[in-house]
Amino acid sequence: MAKKNVKTNVLDHSKAKIKLLNEYLKRYLNIITNDGYTERIKIFDLFCGEGIYEDGNEGSPLVIMRVVKDLHFINASKNNRIPPIDCHFNDLDASKVEKVKNIINEKSLHHFSYGKLDFSSNDYSDKIQQLSQELPKLRNQKAFIFIDPYGYKHIKASDFKILLSQDNVELLLFLPTQFMYRFDSNGTPESLKDFVEEMVDYKSWKDPNNVWEYVDQLKNAFRKYLGNKYFVDTFTIQKDPQTVFCLFFFCSHIRGFEKMLEAKWKIDVEQGKGWKYISNQDSLFLDQKTNPLEEKLMEFIKTGDRGNGDIYEFTLRCGFLPTHAVDVFDSLQKNAKLNVLDSNEEKARKGSFYISYKHYKNEKNKVKFKLI
Ligand SMILES: C[S@@+](CC[C@H](N)C(=O)[O-])C[C@H]1O[C@@H](n2cnc3c(N)ncnc32)[C@H](O)[C@@H]1O
Repeated sequence: MAKKNVKTNVLDHSKAKIKLLNEYLKRYLNIITNDGYTERIKIFDLFCGEGIYEDGNEGSPLVIMRVVKDLHFINASKNNRIPPIDCHFNDLDASKVEKVKNIINEKSLHHFSYGKLDFSSNDYSDKIQQLSQELPKLRNQKAFIFIDPYGYKHIKASDFKILLSQDNVELLLFLPTQFMYRFDSNGTPESLKDFVEEMVDYKSWKDPNNVWEYVDQLKNAFRKYLGNKYFVDTFTIQKDPQTVFCLFFFCSHIRGFEKMLEAKWKIDVEQGKGWKYISNQDSLFLDQKTNPLEEKLMEFIKTGDRGNGDIYEFTLRCGFLPTHAVDVFDSLQKNAKLNVLDSNEEKARKGSFYISYKHYKNEKNKVKFKLI
């Protein structure tokens, strides 16, 4: 069988990548367009490619335009006015950008009432410089940036630090971690060393045993470098047992991060990797793998005074959703391992955990958790 051409056909990992982009954007735009505060949204696809692959599958620019168009239709049918959503597509190859422009036109994917649509064919590094200067000046506006290069050589964590510093930007980055891992274990090239060195001292970089460990190490390096103000997580796409690709997402706002995690878990569920919770308490088998969230939550509660707001943030930072924490707490409560106390130090009603963004924002300490 002829080998698929990576550059003109959508491979399976690219399909998963595009799907996550789609799932995330739907959620992100839904929240932002209705937050009563944002006056304009800007989407940037900095390595946009040619829009459609030879096999007919759609790439990132068309996925983005479809989400924007659908959102406008839904809101128009409800007479709901939403802020303009500007879309900007860039690729170094001007002929690809021209193709994207034509396809958006042919498929009627844009109308001026959605917001501005523009194109450029600049080098990513120049584009990032330009955005680092422009985005901080935006007031009451939000930006989403999709970064999908073939390699990693243009990518700099310091650029992200600048972009994220204004609290109005979210980033989705695709990195070919599989190749990076392979290079890393076969005499690391200077460019890869430089990429890592910007975040952590290369001397502390461990030799990973497999690509999963490599991805974890990179994620932790991003987290360490960017600091606690930002949220970073990954979505791994496994093509086959030996091949793993990875999307990294970066948010400065906890609510955006929750939406990103929801999109991630939704796709995981569809791929049969979703949340299957067997409590460590209920487990009859000592050798059964313990539930990582349960373990982490118990340790977290043990080591400090924890309110519902702390649990909400901690759960997300561990890459899990509030519903997962509720499952764990339901089980701990059922097994008489957890006390939940209200502000009067009285026992709260069974199952009242208040682990949500709403409570995080308004009633961080409505209840407190203690292990028994
Ligand atoms: C992985 S492809 C993008 C695929 C696209 N996001 C999609 O979903 O169909 C990477 C793209 O980066 C472009 N490119 C390569 N070097 C670049 C650079 N320095 N700046 C901007 N774009 C570049 C290539 O022309 C190519 O179209």
